[in-house]
Amino acid sequence: MRLWVICILLVALLAGPASAAGDPLAGEVVFKKCLACHAVGEGAKNKVGPVLNDVVGRTAGTAEKFKYSQALIDAGSAGLIWTPETLAPWLHKPKDVVPATKMSFAGLAEQADIDNVIAYLLTFSPNYVPAAPAPSAEASSAPAQ
Ligand code: HEC
Repeated sequence: MRLWVICILLVALLAGPASAAGDPLAGEVVFKKCLACHAVGEGAKNKVGPVLNDVVGRTAGTAEKFKYSQALIDAGSAGLIWTPETLAPWLHKPKDVVPATKMSFAGLAEQADIDNVIAYLLTFSPNYVPAAPAPSAEASSAPAQ
């Protein structure tokens, strides 16, 4: 019995993208907390908050025809681009990322909810291409594609 093969497979599975990637279906449920202010999908329009189609990969504060706070526009000009990495702290506590933002949402406490809602948003950002991974400890252990 090649137990070690199973072990290696298990380790690969556990260390694989599943640990970082959320579940878009679960994310759709989490997104109900955002629906009061945000729309996404076909025909979505700006509401209290901007449309979130193609938000992943977008520079902060740049959805068309939405009146952002000056603070978020400034953050975008300073280089804030929404990626899974920058969205995570934003969705945890928006005011920690941009203190004067007008997104009056306390944030999501659970990391799983954050991962899942990002996975959901990614399904509406088909043009997003992740940049080459930064040489962080975690990224360097993952084989390049
Ligand atoms: C009470 C209303 C409200 C709720 C609830 C809310 N948002 Fe927002 N959101 C806003 C507003 C308003 C802005 C624009 C902020 C600014 O201009 O400073 C915004 C901005 C954003 C941005 C930046 C978009 C851009 O184009 O730069 C993202 C991403 C975002 N929200 C995601 C979410 C998600 C995901 C949720 C649910 C977990 C959520 N928001 C809940 C009102 C809300």
